[in-house]
Amino acid sequence: MSDSTIESVLQEQRVFEPPAAFSEKARIPSMEAYQKLYDEAAADPAAFWAKLAEQELDWFEKWDTVLDWQPPVAKWFVGGKSNISYNCLDRHLKTDKKDKTALIWEGEPGDSRSLTYTELHAEVCQMANVLKDMGVRKGDRVGLYMPMVPEAAIAMLACTRIGAAHTVIFGGFSSEALRDRLNDAEAKVVITADGGFRKDKPMGLKPAVDAALADNAVPSVTNVLVVQRTKQAVDWTAGRDVWWHDVKPDASTDCPAEPMDSEALLFILYTSGTTGKPKGVVHTTAGYNLYTHMTFKWTFDIKEDDIYWCTADVGWITGHSYIVYGPLSNGATTVMYEGAPRPSNPGAFWDVIEKYKVSIFYTAPTAIRAFMKMGDKEPNARDLSSLRILGTVGEPINPEAWMWYRKVIGGDNCPIVDTWWQTETGGFMLTPLPGATPTKPGSATKPFPGILADVVDTEGNPVGVNEGGYLVVKHPWPSMMRTVYGDDARFRRTYWEHIPPKDGQYFYFAGDGARKDEDGYFWVMGRTDDVLNVSGHRLGTMEIESALVSHPAVAEAAVVGRKDELKGEDVYAFVTLENRYSASDELKTELKQHVVKEIGAIARPGEIQFTDALPKTRSGKIIRRFLRNLASDEEVVGDATTMEDQSVLEKLRQGS
Ligand code: WTA
Repeated sequence: MSDSTIESVLQEQRVFEPPAAFSEKARIPSMEAYQKLYDEAAADPAAFWAKLAEQELDWFEKWDTVLDWQPPVAKWFVGGKSNISYNCLDRHLKTDKKDKTALIWEGEPGDSRSLTYTELHAEVCQMANVLKDMGVRKGDRVGLYMPMVPEAAIAMLACTRIGAAHTVIFGGFSSEALRDRLNDAEAKVVITADGGFRKDKPMGLKPAVDAALADNAVPSVTNVLVVQRTKQAVDWTAGRDVWWHDVKPDASTDCPAEPMDSEALLFILYTSGTTGKPKGVVHTTAGYNLYTHMTFKWTFDIKEDDIYWCTADVGWITGHSYIVYGPLSNGATTVMYEGAPRPSNPGAFWDVIEKYKVSIFYTAPTAIRAFMKMGDKEPNARDLSSLRILGTVGEPINPEAWMWYRKVIGGDNCPIVDTWWQTETGGFMLTPLPGATPTKPGSATKPFPGILADVVDTEGNPVGVNEGGYLVVKHPWPSMMRTVYGDDARFRRTYWEHIPPKDGQYFYFAGDGARKDEDGYFWVMGRTDDVLNVSGHRLGTMEIESALVSHPAVAEAAVVGRKDELKGEDVYAFVTLENRYSASDELKTELKQHVVKEIGAIARPGEIQFTDALPKTRSGKIIRRFLRNLASDEEVVGDATTMEDQSVLEKLRQGS
């Protein structure tokens, strides 16, 4: 966040009560009701979750132990058996929901499709049977590299149905990134499409899969299941590649859901951390199901007739928890949109809301800021009166954008839920409940019932009112990540050792800075580590640095975030070159392209600055703080006397 934003947040005094008419009908209708739930949960979290697990989910076998907590390893609902695909589909078929629309899909060039719960169930069973025919078994991993089409959700539900874990790799990642992730997960099958549509243009996905698998680079993969979307020509590897439309007609629509242990691996989702290697965040079956179910139900106050739309991509945790599993477990109607707003169609989002009478809309601050910049004309020209709740996620929202969202999109009448959470947390951690919580622009307000969050110093002591500190969680919750796939030590180190346990109290360290105000409202200030948040996408600076130094011209690279009005942050790279190379605009372009090849377009540096040297401490550590200041054209703050070579800063300031 920029200093001016921090200042405006600190001065933020506005409070918006939920509209009375909204609260009257809400599931959690008042702060008293919230507080009662919160207190009940805080007094005995395990009992609180056990009661909900009983009420809200179907089980093949009940658990014996609600919570087995051997810090930092938590096991929830031990001994129980359930299946998330069953809870998202089969159980609804026994009710009136069987003919309800489960999924509405709006495709980019105007295609659309909708599936009822019965239809979705049938297709999921068919794909599950195809996966079984390919030899996928309980415990295996399946990689998904998909555009935003119904088959992406179908594939996820098909995997979990048979007890195979999916690992979805965002379609914007390059073949190199795809290969690394498939190898780490040792995926048996990859589900992909010929391509997808992005901003009016078809783009290929299958070619990236081919490149990732070339020369047997991912030996675990035996088959590739390909959905036809764009009808682009694709290369074909006989014996390995299978068209979905070829095998679907013969696949049975019956495939019983596999009873899964509560702690069985559900999915792996790779996310950026502070080292060069992305980490596979592990989520397991029952706890994740329960927590995404409850947070979706209460935070979005879901009602039978709601049409819910989350604009995220299924390649991110938001898509997992709040396009697919949370909504479907609740038997809601979830909208999936393939496109993105673009210059040729700046009203695209508002058209979707108007067309489907969307009542709950969930998007990211970066999108809101982009729309705000485009002006009120487009949204004002649509009927957005179906909306009743607005949500945001991904980064701190600046109060100006929050106010615009409320007024122009929500007609001053829709509660805004600013949800703070992470890939690691599985579901919302800090969030208003729309019928209960008075909101303040820029604050994610209060913890969800059952979440014991705090802001502490490096020793775990709570900091004072309005003092900055580290955001932590002090008690396990059902959808917390269980480990880093294949690397328990990294899990402990990254999340549980930053703030050492004290008197038996463990602290889950989120990596975010925050403060709590006089009303106990949390204000998340952003990452405190070397993770960037570019348009709500998480990127590790080390990952981008590794990509840069893998180019022969680069000797050293240091990547920092530069403040950006629209994206929140942009990637700014300082690069020193090997002697035989000299700086040029062509080389800049080439290096940017190299990062795109290594990681994907989301990581493309906005700016590369060549320099003869990087500012370092006497022990040789790059002083990133200075670089961040330089990138954002700010005064360099802090003590420069520890620097090895004082002239480096001056040179950098002059742009070399
Ligand atoms: C940031 C996305 C402020 C935060 C669900 C976190 C937020 C990271 C908010 C996780 C919010 C997410 N306010 N910051 N409402 N939501 N963040 O894993 O820095 O892609 O640590 O999960 O996004 O990003 P991730």
